[in-house]
Amino acid sequence: MKTVVSFLLSLVTVISMQAQKGHELWLRVKSSVPVNVITGKTMSPTLAIAKQELADGWQGKSGATVTLTIKKDKALKTDGFRLTAAGVEANTDFGLLYGVYELLRRQQTGQPIKEEIFNPSYDVRTLNHWDNLNGSIERGYAGNSIFWRKDSAFVVTEKDKQLWKEYARANASIGINGAVLNNVNASPTMMSADVLNRTKAIAEVLRPYGVKAYLSVNFSSPKVIGGVATSDPLDPAVAKWWKDKAKEIYTLIPDFGGFLVKANSEGQPGPQDFGRTHADGANMLADAVKPYGGIIMWRAFVYSPNDKDRAKQAYNEFVPLDGQFRDNVIIQIKNGPIDFQPREPFSPLFGALKKTSEMVEFQITQEYLGHSIHLVYLSPMWEECLQSDTYQQGIGSTVAKVTDGSVYNQKYTAIAGVSNVGLDTNWTGHDFAQSNWYAFGRLAWNNNLSSEQIADEWIKQTFYPASSDINNSGLYSVDWRDNFLIPVKQMMMDSREAAVDYMTPLGLHHIMSANEHYGPGPWWAPARTRPDWTPPYYHQAAANGIGFDRTKKGSDAVEQYKEPLASLFNDPQKCPDAFLLWFHHLPWDFKMKSGRTLWDEMAYKYEKGVNEVREFQKTWDRVEKYVDTARFASVQRKLRSQVTNAVLWKDACLLYFQTFSKMPIPYDIERPVQNLNEIIANDSRRRN
Ligand code: GCU
Repeated sequence: MKTVVSFLLSLVTVISMQAQKGHELWLRVKSSVPVNVITGKTMSPTLAIAKQELADGWQGKSGATVTLTIKKDKALKTDGFRLTAAGVEANTDFGLLYGVYELLRRQQTGQPIKEEIFNPSYDVRTLNHWDNLNGSIERGYAGNSIFWRKDSAFVVTEKDKQLWKEYARANASIGINGAVLNNVNASPTMMSADVLNRTKAIAEVLRPYGVKAYLSVNFSSPKVIGGVATSDPLDPAVAKWWKDKAKEIYTLIPDFGGFLVKANSEGQPGPQDFGRTHADGANMLADAVKPYGGIIMWRAFVYSPNDKDRAKQAYNEFVPLDGQFRDNVIIQIKNGPIDFQPREPFSPLFGALKKTSEMVEFQITQEYLGHSIHLVYLSPMWEECLQSDTYQQGIGSTVAKVTDGSVYNQKYTAIAGVSNVGLDTNWTGHDFAQSNWYAFGRLAWNNNLSSEQIADEWIKQTFYPASSDINNSGLYSVDWRDNFLIPVKQMMMDSREAAVDYMTPLGLHHIMSANEHYGPGPWWAPARTRPDWTPPYYHQAAANGIGFDRTKKGSDAVEQYKEPLASLFNDPQKCPDAFLLWFHHLPWDFKMKSGRTLWDEMAYKYEKGVNEVREFQKTWDRVEKYVDTARFASVQRKLRSQVTNAVLWKDACLLYFQTFSKMPIPYDIERPVQNLNEIIANDSRRRN
């Protein structure tokens, strides 16, 4: 009886959750067009899902037959598939599942369906969840963890399983095939039996969808929870502890993906605590998971308080180790050399390691881009990074190509995105933040897709209109296209540049308010705080100008870039405006390419950013009739907050930097509406 009641209760919860707006993400289509699906004789759980998806979402010819065929095909990678006139062919069931999602997506978004091969750009396409065992999420803005709970710690409920299933389905639909289930700042407890058992339960739900579980590990685990005297990677007892641990994990989870490691970074333990190198540490773990086909994703996000320029450190630490890593180690590198800023040049490490596998780490959660309050579509930022030419092996050695195996021979290729998923009904807090989860998956599958195409697909699937708006030829009505799709897409496409403009234009970076990284805080520099954790370290504003001098005369970070980039970045006349103050400290009256002074240009950029968000408000208000009331109101409310915050950014930065420039804010732009001392007082009040 008790089980029946709890089953009914969980059913009610699940149903009511689905009734909420936004929970279905981009998977909202329910079609009743019949389709006949033919598969081989053996029916795996994955094939069953593929079949069901076709039955639920088919929008092609009524009564059509779709054949899902396993066929050994050398042109296809493990997860790849071929769309044919008859249906989908692939080497594996997962390939078939991805093919089914592609087929359905094409039907729904009005893209042509013809014979074509689809291979993923990367073998491993993971989300990194910064989730803690107590259920909180570091830099999470959409509620608590979907994996870990503070109370009822390790009890797995039906509701948990349902949620994990929906999560896995969403990932599979865009090709994501891995999830690191916990924070990079990992607790040693992650390796305890209770946690591993829950990980097993999660992995079982994710498995049929092709999503492998990975864990972040704490390098001190052998000593802290294992009773070993040390965690020195070269100590045989330590290596044995990890080997035994790997065996225990793979016994529970045979398809476990491997470990993600943040070592010797921001206070985390690591091999350097024992006088060893990153290679010593990574290789010891790599050997432990190797027999099972596991990988180690070892982060390059390292910097020490004493170095003159934080931007140079990952390169300085890792380049000398090139060639020393095992082939199942991949160095995970943030897109920029500092830390997920609204705009950074690509990290110079990309392509610089020639005998070591490298992977990109993007941040989907909007730590520095307005949390889940600002509407910022991040795909253009990621596209900018992926398409940046490193020149490391001649013209065309883009970040995409030096990480996806086209330029270097990597045993494994991978990409990671720091997830923005939480327990919020719509998963990501802001309805438009779902597009960033979607875009990450699509770019991980195909690193050449354009942000515009991804936005187009996402809007059609997420806000698809009533079926009467889709005419017989499968195309959306002219009205919906012209008055909803096109303006909303434009808003998304403009949103990242707008955020750069009202937060950190012209190459400024890391001037957010301390710790929370939401509003402006260029003034924040309490005594006895690590300088590289304070904004003045980054903007260097003074009477003689602003910007971080990374030229040959300064920190010489430019030298880490391959020519012609080093010379380009080094010359203020040639350096792109977007990176000017990243690489240069320039006088306030420096003459910009536009003919304005640097100070004026900065003021116009801040103004432009604010005005753009005001335009987003107008765009959104105009599309009201095309959106359900709940999502319309929620986005409208958040846009209002975004404008308020953008104005705060503009006022704060212009008034603060004016104390150094001593120049007037150009008279034709809107005057500040707040006073600097009040802004600063509010900022510190909030923090105390
Ligand atoms: C940023 C972020 C931290 C995070 C770190 C990391 O510094 O603010 O919360 O732990 O990145 O990527 O390891």
